[in-house]
Amino acid sequence: MRARRSCLAVPGSNPRFLEKAQSLPVDEVFLDLEDSVAPSAKEGARRSVVAALKEGDWGGKTVVVRVNDLSTPWTYRDVIEVVEAAGDRLHCVMLPKVEEAAQVRWLDLLLSQIERTVGLPVGGIGIEAQIESARGLVAVDEIAGSSPRLETLVFGPADFMASIGMRTLVVGEQPPGYSEGDAYHYILMRILMAARARDLQAIDGPYLQIKDIEGFRRAAGRAAALGFDGKWVLHPGQVAAANEVFSPSQADYDHAELILDAYEYYTTVEGRGAVMLGDEMIDEASRKMALVISAKGRAAGL
Ligand code: GLV
Ligand code: MG
Repeated sequence: MRARRSCLAVPGSNPRFLEKAQSLPVDEVFLDLEDSVAPSAKEGARRSVVAALKEGDWGGKTVVVRVNDLSTPWTYRDVIEVVEAAGDRLHCVMLPKVEEAAQVRWLDLLLSQIERTVGLPVGGIGIEAQIESARGLVAVDEIAGSSPRLETLVFGPADFMASIGMRTLVVGEQPPGYSEGDAYHYILMRILMAARARDLQAIDGPYLQIKDIEGFRRAAGRAAALGFDGKWVLHPGQVAAANEVFSPSQADYDHAELILDAYEYYTTVEGRGAVMLGDEMIDEASRKMALVISAKGRAAGL
């Protein structure tokens, strides 16, 4: 699995941002052809994105291009122009506003044709599917199983809130007047279940109040606590918080390693099942939970 704690959105029409993104310590960068690019700039953005893919130094980052959604006239040319010219530099294509499995299968087939044509390994380019409407959420299980190329399901809160008529203009925060509970909980859990049932990653979307790092940290912390793998970042100021929030703390990582070592010793050397580790009882399920924290810690370099 690729690291995706911080997924940086970069408007494909802005050469300065395309340059700057290369130096930021994010796990993933996605070069956007969709909603951060004005309709009149769409075609120029394709060329800028291809140039940035070919000439940029993206280090060890996961490199993704977000194409336009299938209700627009641009999607097929976005895919063809970018993947034909720079498919060897690309890990995934992100498809926004996915509402049915057939849309992902369309992208899968198109990618296979392009890969064959340009001599890339067929199936090598992955897909990220954004779930950002009521229709997409209702079909999320089917979407999650639609293609072996799928790597992640990505929540798109801005489009989603518009789609369901939520009474808010603030993306990533609770809607005004909703003081009990978490208005995002059901949606996040629904996406997470569909993703995990198919061994996919689950990524939380943007937090638009880019100056409010504490607010970002709170929203990211909620998704991380549920099990999400990462969150979009829109600004350099959000990067460190995302990387930190989606990595386990050193104390949790050390504790997970301790559980694994202790459990290994008691079960294999002493032949016991459930055992006490200090004041805590651990068993096979504790080992599985510890493995999750340990794997996230290792991926974060702890
Ligand atoms: C992202 O695409 C969103 O709509 O929030
Ligand atoms: Mg969106």
